[in-house]
Amino acid sequence: MSNSLLVCHGLRKIYREAQLETEVLKGVSFAIESNELVAIVGSSGSGKSTLLHLLGALDEPSDGDVFFKGQKLNSMSANKQAKIRNQEIGFVYQFHHLLADFSAMENVAMPLLIGGMATDKAESKAKSILDMVGLSHRYEHRPSELSGGERQRVAFARALVNNPSIVLADEPTGNLDHKTALEIYDLMCKLNKESGTAFLVVTHDNELAAKLDRCMHMQDGNLVQVEVV
Ligand SMILES: Nc1ncnc2c1ncn2[C@@H]1O[C@H](COP(=O)(O)OP(=O)(O)OP(=O)(O)O)[C@@H](O)[C@H]1O
Ligand SMILES: [Mg+2]
Repeated sequence: MSNSLLVCHGLRKIYREAQLETEVLKGVSFAIESNELVAIVGSSGSGKSTLLHLLGALDEPSDGDVFFKGQKLNSMSANKQAKIRNQEIGFVYQFHHLLADFSAMENVAMPLLIGGMATDKAESKAKSILDMVGLSHRYEHRPSELSGGERQRVAFARALVNNPSIVLADEPTGNLDHKTALEIYDLMCKLNKESGTAFLVVTHDNELAAKLDRCMHMQDGNLVQVEVV
């Protein structure tokens, strides 16, 4: 087994509904090293979200394996998976999935509280991450009181709050204007340099993809390395 941070081998996903079978991933294999910034591009419906869900142990592959720091993620107990998701893998969902009844600060603090941190400490950490994403003036707002882009930034802050080894981000800037999207990408690059956080980011924007170390294209159920210019 390699020393890579995140590895998948022959990952397949077939959705089965009644008589209908859809093979979305047809044997995806690749590795991400710690410290890498990797983009995934590909047309709508090509399987990008499906892949991210499998890599984050949010869904089960039909075949193949995912290894995180050399440990097979998909055959771990649910508890162990949950612990790794809480401590090591930050996830930014395509549709943010913030908790509607909680403020921005509470949403960001949630992974820390789940991990057992005291409330005061968790809230002050949450505020410092919200400051980083430009939301110092929105601590107490609930998701319904935030704009689409602000919600995305809260979701991004939540993914970062536990200093994960890797962040899996599904179009984290899809609702942002170009300038704010660029700021989020600059923030990723900064965190990557300062704390070595790896990022695997789905995007439709080639200019943003080109800011990262390398780019892969999801095509016909497989991932291929591409040059972005
Ligand atoms: N639960 C499901 N049951 C059946 N089919 C599904 C399910 N989830 C996704 N699919 C199908 O799998 C394919 C890939 O979906 P996925 O969400 O991974 O695409 P995507 O690349 O993230 O697209 P987008 O860019 O639009 O977000 C789609 O054709 C979709 O219809
Ligand atoms: Mg998607």
